[in-house]
Amino acid sequence: MTTSAEPVRPGPLAARPVVHRPVPPTPRLLRLPGVYRPQEDTALLAAAIEDLVVPPGARALDLCTGTGAQAITLARRGAETVLALDLSRRALASVRLNALTQRLRVRPRRGDLATALGEGPFDVVVANPPYVPSPEPAVRSTRGWDAGPDGRAVLDPLCAQADTLLRPGGTLLLVQSGLSDVDRSLTTLTARGLRAEVVRRARIPFGPVLSGRTAYLEAAGLIEPGQRMEELVVLRADR
Ligand SMILES: C[S@@+](CC[C@H](N)C(=O)[O-])C[C@H]1O[C@@H](n2cnc3c(N)ncnc32)[C@H](O)[C@@H]1O
Repeated sequence: MTTSAEPVRPGPLAARPVVHRPVPPTPRLLRLPGVYRPQEDTALLAAAIEDLVVPPGARALDLCTGTGAQAITLARRGAETVLALDLSRRALASVRLNALTQRLRVRPRRGDLATALGEGPFDVVVANPPYVPSPEPAVRSTRGWDAGPDGRAVLDPLCAQADTLLRPGGTLLLVQSGLSDVDRSLTTLTARGLRAEVVRRARIPFGPVLSGRTAYLEAAGLIEPGQRMEELVVLRADR
């Protein structure tokens, strides 16, 4: 895991000091072929969940669950019910296996934001959605990370509906890349009446996906020429 304690310039809306600590390792999870491998963003979001006070009787949602890494953290932290949503059937099978192995109660269901809105509202919502800017539309094999030309295909609707997903007093934790416009997420969440801020940051070197598309990212003005480091952030929004 490659994280750095370097200070990072906050965006205009991220006024409060940000916790910047080493990210603890993600517990070992079973993962069927094709399911998103837990990595730095997984660990950064899980660490933010560990900091959260999960109220007794909480209804929790893990949107874009993959292996169920975040759903399992929520169940371990004491959420009463945990719904784990993903479009991938293999992801849901992985969630089932992981919850069974760890003897935790998680309800996997095939679905997306619309499904979540039908099941809500929730006390806690967490999401590690696809957020990587991509010149091509996502296909099944890239659905775990690709999210349209600006990386916001899933982020935009999620931020715009976050208030509806949450009960009064509820909290959203969302991880994304600095390449996919963190300030736009904060502005949208704030416009929906939520108190939103960045609570965690990590700087990591480009992995294989970003390394393979630096020409696109430079041409689109999403990175500086020669930039090969990415910032990950966790946003917290409270209703
Ligand atoms: C970045 S992975 C995150 C996996 C896991 N939550 C983690 O933290 O490691 C994103 C996941 O979202 C799923 N996904 C992509 N688009 C989705 C959508 N519109 N609705 C629900 N899940 C989606 C993918 O199948 C993938 O499992």
